[in-house]
Order: sequence, then C-alpha cells, then structure tokens
Amino acid sequence: MKNKKLWGGRFSQTTSTITEQISKSLHFDVRLYRHDIQGSIAHARMLAKNGIISQEDCNAIIAGLQTIQKEIEEGTFPFNEKLEDIHMNIEARLTELIGDAGKKLHTARSRNDQVVTDVRLYLKDAIKEIEKLCINLIQILIKKAEEHTHVIMPGYTHMQIAQPVRFSHHLLVYAWAYLRDLTRLRNAYNATDVLPLGSGALAGVNYDTDRHYLSDELQFGAVAHNSMDAVSDRDFIADFLYFAAMAGMHSSRLSEDLIVWSTAEFNFIKLSDSVTTGSSIMPQKRNPDVAELIRGKTGRLYGNLFTLLTVLKGLPMTYNRDLQEDKEPLFDSIDTVKIVLEAMAEMIDNVSVNDEVTRKAIYKNFSTATDIADYLVMKGIPFRQAHEIVGAIVKYCEQYNKDFFTLPLNEIQSFSEAFAADVYEYLDPEKSTERKKSYGSTSLESIENQIKLLKEKLHEFSH
Ligand code: ARG
Repeated sequence: MKNKKLWGGRFSQTTSTITEQISKSLHFDVRLYRHDIQGSIAHARMLAKNGIISQEDCNAIIAGLQTIQKEIEEGTFPFNEKLEDIHMNIEARLTELIGDAGKKLHTARSRNDQVVTDVRLYLKDAIKEIEKLCINLIQILIKKAEEHTHVIMPGYTHMQIAQPVRFSHHLLVYAWAYLRDLTRLRNAYNATDVLPLGSGALAGVNYDTDRHYLSDELQFGAVAHNSMDAVSDRDFIADFLYFAAMAGMHSSRLSEDLIVWSTAEFNFIKLSDSVTTGSSIMPQKRNPDVAELIRGKTGRLYGNLFTLLTVLKGLPMTYNRDLQEDKEPLFDSIDTVKIVLEAMAEMIDNVSVNDEVTRKAIYKNFSTATDIADYLVMKGIPFRQAHEIVGAIVKYCEQYNKDFFTLPLNEIQSFSEAFAADVYEYLDPEKSTERKKSYGSTSLESIENQIKLLKEKLHEFSH
C-alpha cells in the first residue's frame, strides 16, 4: 500500500485529511534533503563499522541514497505529500529502490535526533555563506570610508545638527556594528556545531554505536552529552535568529540614514539607479525602495526570533511536535538576512556623496558652539560658565539674525573679555574634526586607526 505510514504498525484507522495537512512539512523541509542524505550515509557507515548492519547492506544504502540525491536534483524524485516530511520521503524511496536493506537504515536512530542533526548540518553551511556576505559588506564599508576621508558633514543628535564629523566616521559606525554581528554569528555557529545523532528518540539507543565516529564523519566540533537535551535543544536556532535580527536592525538603521540623506531636503548622497525605482505616476521620482525593503524586512527577522522563542516557551522535555515549527522561521531568516546583506552591499558600493552639500551643511545650527565653549575653557574659564556665554552668543545671533561663524570680534568680545582674534580658528566648522583629540574620535588620524583595526579584525574572521 503506497500511502502506508512508516510508523503505521499500531494504527487501525487512517489519519484524517486535516491531520495530514497540519502535519506535513515537506513543502519547507525539502531543502534539508542533501543534509539528510549526508547524515544517513554517516549513520549507515557507523552501523556497518560497529557490526550492527552488514557491509553489503551499508553499500546498498549508500548507493540508494546517492541515486535519491540525483533524482531530487534532476527533478525526477517521486515526492509523496502523505509521507509528511523529507526524511520519510527519502527513507520510503530508499526501500522502494533497494528493498529490505533500506528498512535497516533507521536502526539505532529516531526522527527526533535525525531531524535536528539535519537542521544543524544545514545551518552550519548557511552560516558559512552568511559570514562571507557579512565580511564582504564590511569590506565595502571600509573601502567607501577610505575613499571619503576628506568629506565633512554634520553629525546629528536628536536629528538636529550637532557637530561636524567626517563622513567616514559615520560609515564606520556600521562597519563596527556588522563586526559585532560577525561575532554573534560565530557564537551561533559554535552552538550549532554539536552532534545530536545517535541519541535516539530521547533516552539513547540499545546498540553499541559510536557517536564520536559519527561526529568525525559529519565534521561536528562536539557531541551532545545528554540524549534528552540533544533532541529538544533549539538554542542554536535562537542564537542564529538573534544574530539575524541584530544584523537586520543595523541594516535598517543604515537604510534609514541613506533614505534621509538621499531626500531632496538633505541631498547628501545619491543612490545609484541600480538600487532605486521609479513611480508609475510621478515621472520625476527616484525612490529608495531597496533601503525601504531592508528596513521593512527587519520586522520579519524580529518576528522569526519571537516565533521560535514562543514555540520553545513552556515546552516540556523532550521532543514535542511543536518543534517542527522551528524550521520556517529559521529558513525565512536565512533567506532574508542573505538578501539584506547582499542588497546593502550593492547600495553602499554604488552610493555617491555630494561633498559640497555636506560641507555647506556644517555651516548650520551653530555646529562649532561646543568648540567655542572649549576655546573659553582653554582661556581659563570654567566649562559651565563657558557654556553659558556661548549660549548667550547663540541667542544673540538668532535674535538679530547674525551669522555665528563670521560674527565681528567686537561683538564676540562683548560676551567675554577672553575672546581674541584666534577665535575664528575655532569657529571654522571645517577645522572642527581635527580638533578632536580623544581616542576613537572623528579626526583623520582616528579614522585611519579605525580602518587599520577593522582590517586586522576582519582578517581574523576570514582565517
Ligand atoms: N517533521 C518533523 C519535525 O520536523 C519530524 C519529527 C517527527 N518526530 C516525531 N516524533 N513525530 O520535527
């Protein structure tokens, strides 16, 4: 009977259609096929090595699994929705292809340890790809920063012009943020790199198996020490989803900066045609859709993390079918974070900066007021008092519509005797960044140091 369940021995009635519908995961777990086959081949080898199945059966199983992989990749595999998931589909097909030997593959194994092994193998590969995308994006940010160290722009707090900064300093914020994401990704990888296979359904198995051999075959860094933990632990997925949520959040903030800077009001940057779209009604529009989509997709990345945390909350030990719900958020976050990192790299790589506009903008909103307060401190006035004096100058300029940066010396001196002709050096917003002396500041020297450090740290990750 073709639709007989592999677990059907103790059942006398068939499952209802709705049960089959709610149970099936084939449409999303099909993407685990390669790692399922990889895990099964290692398992068969271990069973043969330890004399649990014969070498002939093992050879037949491996050949059958290789045929199945080919069938799936060539699109000829006879998928059967009624068999719930990819694991059952592969096992059923194996028996169809090689007969009784196929029925021996599941000795000393349960779907509970099998499924989570497959997910770990799959995620390890995905993380390696995502790590490359993240490194590439950081390299592009560094390159852009290097090309624009001369560009000065207003730095903002509360979305109000605060102090002049270098454009590179602003870009490197994101290089540092993505570097932290890389560390989070590494941590997620290490949490994923633990072998559950061989734990059976929950209690271990009644065979003299070799889980350390399995671990070596499948290139895991460690073996799970508790069989109950092995089948119920999904922390590694949560770790990855947290990484993805954070990388999304950083990408969303960078998108927001790019969107604001590319408005006609700011006009600090131009996004390339390759990442903007037109409007179907307004002929003049160039919309930053890619940046907006990245910002929007971050919601999905957060949602996926919360989906999993909610699935796990209150689950009793050990395996419960709820755990099948771990896969869709994981797969969605893998796909989403990949596309976000790639799209961001494309956007940053092709952005152009209107450095004349950014330079003009630093002559707004008294951007060197803090430098003038510091000037007075240098002349011996306590900082609080200096702050007060400069506040009064700002108020005066606003009231009488005077230009702060070119205020005549006699007018400046009416606020404090301490002012002298050298005050104009300090008023000049183009000189402000180079006055910054603290470690990590926006001065050119600091930026060059940051770039050097970032390159060193990236080097550690790529090796
Ligand atoms: N598709 C299921 C999952 O992803 C397979 C595990 C089924 N195990 C079980 N005991 N019913 O979790």
